[in-house]
Amino acid sequence: MNAVTDIEPDFSRIPVVEDEVFTAPLKRPSHIGEDWLEPKQTEYDSEDDKIWDDLFARQMEVLPGRAASAFMEGLDRLDLGTGGVPDFHELSEDLGKLTGWSVVPVPMLIPDHIFFWHLANRRFPAGNFIRTRETFDYIQEPDVFHDVFGHVPMLTNPVFADYMQEYGRAGWRALKHNRLKALGALYWYTVEFGLIMEEQGLRAYGAGILSGPTETVFSVEAKSPNRIMLDVDRVMRTDYVISDLQPTYFVIESFEDLYRRTVKRDFEPLYESLPVGFTYANAAVLDSDSVVNVGSQEYLLRGGRGSDARPV
Ligand SMILES: [Fe+2]
Repeated sequence: MNAVTDIEPDFSRIPVVEDEVFTAPLKRPSHIGEDWLEPKQTEYDSEDDKIWDDLFARQMEVLPGRAASAFMEGLDRLDLGTGGVPDFHELSEDLGKLTGWSVVPVPMLIPDHIFFWHLANRRFPAGNFIRTRETFDYIQEPDVFHDVFGHVPMLTNPVFADYMQEYGRAGWRALKHNRLKALGALYWYTVEFGLIMEEQGLRAYGAGILSGPTETVFSVEAKSPNRIMLDVDRVMRTDYVISDLQPTYFVIESFEDLYRRTVKRDFEPLYESLPVGFTYANAAVLDSDSVVNVGSQEYLLRGGRGSDARPV
């Protein structure tokens, strides 16, 4: 029955999506081609560049001792803090020499299958726009600071760079099983909100964490959240919070370990046994979990974002 899933698509062009596969009906702006790429990067004005510089400086105050060493090394190797929003061409040249990845501008959130196709070709689609002073502290749509500062440093790590490409390929297989929700949870709990256990202690490598100061501190130091060793089958059944700090973070031992647990396995039996919705609530701790710590959940119990609860 899995004949269609056995054939690896040709990623040199956008693979054809079969009619029975559901894709979100996003409206493509008229100036954008089928690859959803902007013809060129936005020309940022001096206020935009200042916003980038201020966001960069704010993160540099909280990252040391909290961000994964792979992330800090990536930041060191790329010129992201030399003044204003980085130029994607220059950034892609530097990144290309390290791991063969490039950064390409997109206007907004793009359809999953196009996103996967770019990843499968080692292209990272980055939002073109930058937040304003009004949305300086919190923005739900990923902007250029989240996408470039948060994601690109990790793409200098060869193992993580391969993981991201394989994630794009896996996306096409998940599409055909209609299991994007489950694969999305894996992305969420690794690429966006992942923690790693280093010799000196817990560190964050997820872009959703490292592009903001509050969650950078909260994810590694607060008493509220659970921290649980990553189990892929478990994570793909776990719900997540989109617009607040996470009740649970999943921890990897190393990027090699992450690669082994995801790329070096067959997801088809898992996809066939997964229910349509998530099985576990985002704050759940299971008997079968390998627990680093059980959180107090105090922050969420006191009301979370929008209340006066402190992220402790
Ligand atoms: Fe992201």
